[in-house]
Amino acid sequence: MKKLLIANWKMELNEAETLDLVLNYKKRLKKITQVEIAFAPSCVYLKEVKNLLGRTHLQLAAQNVAAQAKGKYTGEISAAQIKELGCSYVIVGHSERRIKMNETDDMVNRKINQCYHNDLIPILCIGETLEEKNSGRSDSAIVRQLQAAISKVDGLPENELVIAYEPVWAVGTGQFLEAENIFAFHRTIKRTVSSLYSEKFYNDKVRLLYGGSINSIIAKDYWVSEVLDGILVGGASLDIEEMYNVALEGE
Ligand code: 13P
Repeated sequence: MKKLLIANWKMELNEAETLDLVLNYKKRLKKITQVEIAFAPSCVYLKEVKNLLGRTHLQLAAQNVAAQAKGKYTGEISAAQIKELGCSYVIVGHSERRIKMNETDDMVNRKINQCYHNDLIPILCIGETLEEKNSGRSDSAIVRQLQAAISKVDGLPENELVIAYEPVWAVGTGQFLEAENIFAFHRTIKRTVSSLYSEKFYNDKVRLLYGGSINSIIAKDYWVSEVLDGILVGGASLDIEEMYNVALEGE
């Protein structure tokens, strides 16, 4: 499996800005062949972005998905609808949704099930808050999130899973977990996933990403980490040269 770079544009861009960014990336990222890249624009632009991407190697990701398959859920977007729009990936359980939208572990689990029912690969976000970190509960927080998210999931262990470890205190703050400190978290994540499924599943089907204040200056440390399979970028992915340089470091 290739290393993966996901650009999460959150709710930052309007239509013209989104399409302009995509057109620029199409040109700028042509040389990037060793890293798989996926863009996660706001859902209202997914179709237009898909059309612009056309037959390039660039992939599309949704930022969220409904926990339910279909029905009377005003304002929700189902996994089937997201699949129809041409997405390959869906970000699930981002800390901004867990904290600001009260998304629970149970909802995250149901969303992951919806992804697999519709042939979408979830990018499961996990990570401890500052309070959990300061009280020595980082490990227990990510174990709880992982167990709740991927226990009793129909599509596992047959399908791929992307896990994005994003410490909440590092998201959009300019603070980051140094790459050499990822090892302990990798051990916890691998142990938890392997005990739910198997070590073979982890080795063959799981890609572990790091996210949280990544920029082009520090990206290399994460690309070369033997326990990481990619990066999830927020702010830096809104800047063409920053994103290009982050991708280039992974080549
Ligand atoms: P930043 O890279 O802006 O910290 O955001 C990370 C993130 O939330 C990606 O999903």
